[in-house]
Amino acid sequence: MFTLGIETSCDETSCAVLEGLDKLRSNVISSSLFRHKPFGGIVPEIASRHSLEQIDTVFNEALEQAKVKAGDLDLVAVTYGPGLIGSLLVGVCFAKTLSYRLGIPLVGVNHLEAHLVAPFVSIPDANGKIKRAKVPAHFIGLLVSGGHTMISYHEKQRVKILGETVDDAVGEAYDKTAKILGLGFPGGPVMDKLSYEGNPKAVLFTKPKQDRPYDFSFSGIKTAVLYHVQKQQLDKQSETHRQTIIRDVAASFQSSVISWLVDKTLRAAELKKVKDIVVGGGVSANSLLRKRLTEEAAAIGIKVWFPPFSLTLDNAGMIARRGVELYQKGKRSGLKLSANPNLKVV
Ligand code: KG4
Ligand code: ZN
Repeated sequence: MFTLGIETSCDETSCAVLEGLDKLRSNVISSSLFRHKPFGGIVPEIASRHSLEQIDTVFNEALEQAKVKAGDLDLVAVTYGPGLIGSLLVGVCFAKTLSYRLGIPLVGVNHLEAHLVAPFVSIPDANGKIKRAKVPAHFIGLLVSGGHTMISYHEKQRVKILGETVDDAVGEAYDKTAKILGLGFPGGPVMDKLSYEGNPKAVLFTKPKQDRPYDFSFSGIKTAVLYHVQKQQLDKQSETHRQTIIRDVAASFQSSVISWLVDKTLRAAELKKVKDIVVGGGVSANSLLRKRLTEEAAAIGIKVWFPPFSLTLDNAGMIARRGVELYQKGKRSGLKLSANPNLKVV
C-alpha cells in the first residue's frame, strides 16, 4: 500500500510517499523560509503563494524519488489544520483533486497529532532496510513547535491534554528572543548553537507560575530578555562585550526554557505512570532538550522517543504516517473535507 502525504500548513510545501504503515520512500520539502527572512517572521500571503507555485513540482519529485507512479497510490493523507488558512487550502484542494482523479480515499490529518508520530516513521538505510518502532500504548506527548506547546496523555489511542501554553509557543519564544538579540529568523537553531558559548547562569529568569500545573508561559521570559538587553545598552558596548552579553542571554534562556519543559514533562510522566515519552515539533531538534530529557527520563526508567532530525520540522512523511493510522481505524474524509485553521487535538 502506498500513501501520499501532503503538508502545507505553514511555510513548508511537502509531499511524501509512505509504503505500508511506516516505510518512508520519499519526503520532499520546499521551504519558503528564505522569502520570509527579510520580514523577521512568516508572512501568510507569501507562504500560500509559495505552496501554490511549488505543490505540483514537489508532488512529482516525491513520486520520482519513491519510484512510484500516481496510479500506484492507494491513499491520500493531507493536513487540514491547524495552520494558515491560505496555505492549508492549497494542500487540501490538491489532495481532493488527486483523490477524485485517481479514485482513491482521502484522509484529513491534524498537523499536531502528526508531529507526535514522526518518531515512528522509518527511514530506510542505504540497503533499503528499516528499523521499526511501535507507538507505545500509553505515553506522555510533548509537542514543541513554532505554534504550539502541549503536554498530552495518550492511552489506547485516547488523548487528554494536560497542559498547553497560555501565551507564546516555545518555538515562538526562541524566535522572538533571537530577534531581540539581533540573531535573525528563525531563532531556534542559532540560539541553540550559541548557547554553548555562553554562561547559562549569567541571567536568572523567574519560572512563571501557572494555575494549571502542566501549562506553560513563555511571553514573560521574552520580555525579561528585552529589559535585560535594554539595561545592558548593547549599542554602547565594545563588540567583544556585546557578543558576550548575547551569548550569555542565549545560554541562560535555553537553560531556563528547557528546564521548564523537562521538569513538567517528567512530572506528567510520573503522575500518569508511563514508561514512554514521545516528543514532536520543530523544537524537538533542540540539542539540550534531547540530552536532558533523555538522560533525566532514563534515570527514572522512562524512554524518550524523538523524531529523526529530518522529520523534526514540518514534513509530509509524518502526515502520511498519521493518515495510514487513521485509515486503518476506518477514517475517510471524502471530498467535503475543508481546511480548519483552528483545528484542535481533542
Ligand atoms: O514544527 P515547526 O516546523 O513549526 C510549526 O509547526 O509551528 O517548528 C518551527 C520552530 C521554530 O520556532 C524554530 O525556531 C524552532 O522550531 N526550532 C528550534 C530548533 N530548531 C527549530 N528551537 C530550538 N532549538 C532548535 N534547535
Ligand atoms: Zn509543525
